[in-house]
Amino acid sequence: MKYIFIPLIILLFSFKSNGQTLSIIPQPVSIEQQDGVFSFSPQVKIVFDEDEFMNANYLNTYLAKYYQVRPLVQPNIKKYIALRLLNSKQKSFSPDEYFISVTTDSIVITGTDAGIFYGIQTLLQLMPAEMKMQFDIPCVTIHDYPRFSWRGMHLDCSRHFFSVEFVKKYIDMMAYYKMNTFHWHLTDDQGWRIEIKQYPKLTEVGSHRKETMVAKNFTPYIGDKTPYDGFYSQEQIKEIVKYATLRHVTIVPEIEMPGHSQAAIAAYPELACFGMSFDVLTKWGGSDVVLCPTPEVIEFYENILDEVMALFPGEYIHVGGDEVPEGHWKKSKQVTEIMLKENIKTYPGVEAYFINTIEKYIISKGKKMIGWDEILDGGVSANASIMSWRGTEGGIAAAKHGNYAVMTPGDFCYFDHCQSKNSMEPLCIGGFLPLEKVYSYEPVPTELTAEQSIYILGAQANVWTEYLATPEQIEYMIFPRMIALSEVVWSQKTKKDWWDFVGRLQYHFSLMEFRGINYRVPEPEIQLRPLAENKFTLGITSLKQNSDFYYTTDGTNPTSSSLKYSEAIEITLTPTQKIKAIAIIKSGKKSIVTESGK
Ligand code: ACM
Repeated sequence: MKYIFIPLIILLFSFKSNGQTLSIIPQPVSIEQQDGVFSFSPQVKIVFDEDEFMNANYLNTYLAKYYQVRPLVQPNIKKYIALRLLNSKQKSFSPDEYFISVTTDSIVITGTDAGIFYGIQTLLQLMPAEMKMQFDIPCVTIHDYPRFSWRGMHLDCSRHFFSVEFVKKYIDMMAYYKMNTFHWHLTDDQGWRIEIKQYPKLTEVGSHRKETMVAKNFTPYIGDKTPYDGFYSQEQIKEIVKYATLRHVTIVPEIEMPGHSQAAIAAYPELACFGMSFDVLTKWGGSDVVLCPTPEVIEFYENILDEVMALFPGEYIHVGGDEVPEGHWKKSKQVTEIMLKENIKTYPGVEAYFINTIEKYIISKGKKMIGWDEILDGGVSANASIMSWRGTEGGIAAAKHGNYAVMTPGDFCYFDHCQSKNSMEPLCIGGFLPLEKVYSYEPVPTELTAEQSIYILGAQANVWTEYLATPEQIEYMIFPRMIALSEVVWSQKTKKDWWDFVGRLQYHFSLMEFRGINYRVPEPEIQLRPLAENKFTLGITSLKQNSDFYYTTDGTNPTSSSLKYSEAIEITLTPTQKIKAIAIIKSGKKSIVTESGK
């Protein structure tokens, strides 16, 4: 007897039977598929408007890397991919808008400069996820533009340091999914990672820590006795900025102040209120050691920002502002004097004084300031933008006051949170943020009116790296969750549909494989339907089709030599027996092991 009783299977089958062959993520504004195909071959050429060399070069380089085809650019050819800049003088277009027309003879991408880049990303998703020199691209007309202007990904490079090469890959992976803002967390208690020429000790001292706490061994503390360091030179930063610019990714550097500054204080003890010396922090969690809000410290940070602003061409500078303990300030004579002089009544007011002074400086240099939502607590200027992380309240308050906000609430956007509740999940900070929950996120809070919601710039995922030390771990945490987020921030709200997304995601599993991304293989879901005493129907599914499932009934962890599941079967289990299952995909990549909870 055969059973198909799991909605997931049915939905995936019905998706296939629609004849749908396009799997674009994020879902475009409109797609009309026509009969026929454009036959891609080494004879295809790229033609482009003069100003579109960068985008043409990007496409050429990608096609050479992944399909070993270099479509030399030349005029008067029959089969071509054309990149045509929209004439924005004739009509106003959204800054990221594009049109694609694939016919049997040509592929034409028309758009703004950034739009053409996004059109190229869509086109790349119409190509096979395997090395081929000849393939068909379905004839299609697409019109597309994003819902939000801030489509962000953050990366904490303080707790763990990531190479220039990986930061570039991170930017590449963002760009594949039309994410456009890279929030680069460069300083924190556990390491200062950006070269500042005026203050060389920031990196000479602040980029090194004696050791790193092992896993979650807070009390008693256990360190790994291995020195850890790393920083980006200004030349490396320039190289990364250029790389990002070519991929239409803006980098927002974050220089934390006045909290999360122990690494800076380890380098220059005079930055703290008591001039005491501290080491760069080796354990995770907060530190009581904060910057003293004196004019000298503020000037020190203005000097740092001069160098930072010269390196990063984007309009925003992130100043942190989160989690500032007041203990040191409460004991400090200098802080009392500042409070009297400036008529400040509270300690959040002291932070506001610090941050608002820095903001004036940033604005005087023609840039904008953004900070974590704590900067609202003591009163913030009308110009500051807010990153809402302690829930959505900060974003709501900001938008109601006419301050721009980026939504990054922990419950939906913290990609350091665990992807399952399974004890086999690799070490993660806590929380529970599965793929479907990311996909369900709606960045505009219902509390806002239509006018207020204009102040919601978009959303962002944060990737804190206390428990993520390698590129492979980062990729595991962001894929496929970033793919879900891309649809949250790019696609129109009416286009979102979880099961349709899951259907399109199937191609993206292959594409991630093809592009060398270490994504998380969805774990098997075990379903046991009772038939009679100790008799069940066993069904195993997962979010990824074509996974091979293996299972055991003796409590051992399954491997590829265990029983292979091919279809729903009848099974006899005693009350203490459990099923354990694993998904293994074609490349040999494995999911975590799941266990039946009868
Ligand atoms: C934060 O997660 N402390 C902004």
